[in-house]
Amino acid sequence: MPAYSPGFRSLDAEHDDLALDMEGEIPAWLSGSLVRNGPGQFEVGGERVEHWFDGLAMLHKFRFGGEDGTDGGVFYSNRFLRTEAYREAVEDERITSQFATSGSYLDQLKSFLSDPTDNANVNVARIGGEYAALTETPRRVRFDPETLSARGELTFADDMTVHHVTAHLRHDDRRGETVGYATRFGRKNRYLLYRVLDDQPAGGRPSRVPIASLEVEEPAYLHSFALTPQYVVVVEPPFVVNPMRFLLPGRGGFIDNFRWKPERGTRFLAFDRESGNLAIERTAPPFFFFHTVNAFESRAEDGESGELVVDLVAYEDASIVEDLFMSSVEGEEKAGEATGGEPNPGPVLDAAKGELARFRVPIDGGRVDRRNLYTGMELPRIAPRAGMEPYRYAYGQATAREGQNGLAKVNVETGEATEWWEDGFYAGEPIFVPKPADGEGGGGEKQAPEDRGVVLAPALDTESEDSVLVVLDGESFDELARAHVPHHIPFGFHGEFFPEVTS
Ligand SMILES: [Fe+2]
Repeated sequence: MPAYSPGFRSLDAEHDDLALDMEGEIPAWLSGSLVRNGPGQFEVGGERVEHWFDGLAMLHKFRFGGEDGTDGGVFYSNRFLRTEAYREAVEDERITSQFATSGSYLDQLKSFLSDPTDNANVNVARIGGEYAALTETPRRVRFDPETLSARGELTFADDMTVHHVTAHLRHDDRRGETVGYATRFGRKNRYLLYRVLDDQPAGGRPSRVPIASLEVEEPAYLHSFALTPQYVVVVEPPFVVNPMRFLLPGRGGFIDNFRWKPERGTRFLAFDRESGNLAIERTAPPFFFFHTVNAFESRAEDGESGELVVDLVAYEDASIVEDLFMSSVEGEEKAGEATGGEPNPGPVLDAAKGELARFRVPIDGGRVDRRNLYTGMELPRIAPRAGMEPYRYAYGQATAREGQNGLAKVNVETGEATEWWEDGFYAGEPIFVPKPADGEGGGGEKQAPEDRGVVLAPALDTESEDSVLVVLDGESFDELARAHVPHHIPFGFHGEFFPEVTS
């Protein structure tokens, strides 16, 4: 068993606003709540789920009191997301077929195309004023940010049929809209891009407005996309499916049907956000990825049209998907399709090789340029205000060492990195929270540095088998404080800081 195995252990306890033991000091300005999502239970009816992405959703909330609140304290709540999938798992001891957990042929058909799971365990977001837990099926679950109680499904007023969606929506403050991506499978398959305006009619359900769509023969597995002021950028790795495979008996879960076809290369598809036209299409040598970091347009000063800059965490191939099967993360061998049948060597969360890379895509044609910036990163984040424009810092989980995961702050202009490590600790996704600007107005004031604020990340201490929340200074990356959770928190995926959630 690898040292990090408590990260894949189910958690029974649920807490409500528990004051955590603290070391160090939280900045007095920090007010609001970090809400994180991830699997909380890995067994159903006595059986392990097959893939890390298939554990039952649990929300975790860290509330910061702020100056007017409870004086530098951190208050922890956690709750299983009580969904249909949760009820079926707990009461009927049955798991609906999900990302990679195989069901029977009938379950398979039913689950993916017509009765997808509502086990929304990947991310959280605020969409049109509603807080929602997200996964990669079209079923999004509303929750109360104060109590973390599930409040039923978030449905849309439109009738757009989609089958696989991203759990990484992108919000554009300037345009006042959330942009999303989805795939529709069928005799014809389509990538669909849409927007949800922040301004929605009161009392009604939000609507998705189509931006663009593209017919594809073999859709790729797409986990996230990128947004610039002018374009929606779909980066399409050659990890693709012939959707007819979903209909064949004995095909396993959703992801088991995808195949690595490196000869296709990885395509950059940029759609104009106004016209919906496919404005840019370029192919680069093959790579796989889950997470884009940021993207922007870099305009040339000499009147030429410039380039798209897309930062993401790239992998050589899609074997990382195989590596995240429970059998692999628990140190067993598993041969897999994505690796061409090669067995995994053992505990695979150690020394994972995600490469933070910058891709430059010339708008008027020409070769896509790739520059590697930092080796061993996952779960990348940026300061909220740095999105869609030239920026300096990416924050991520640092994965290059064995026996621990750290945190890294990488200057994306120079590749220079500052890191946080602690022996035997496995840190998760770091979320940057900006320090609010001093005073009102801001006319003529110099803008604060991009990294002025704090970085919040959960970390598992493999020795005590408990978790902490670490608070780092955004600029120095020094640890300011840590809050002790009285148990482990299973390894999760993504979260969001909501400054407005103060109770
Ligand atoms: Fe993700």
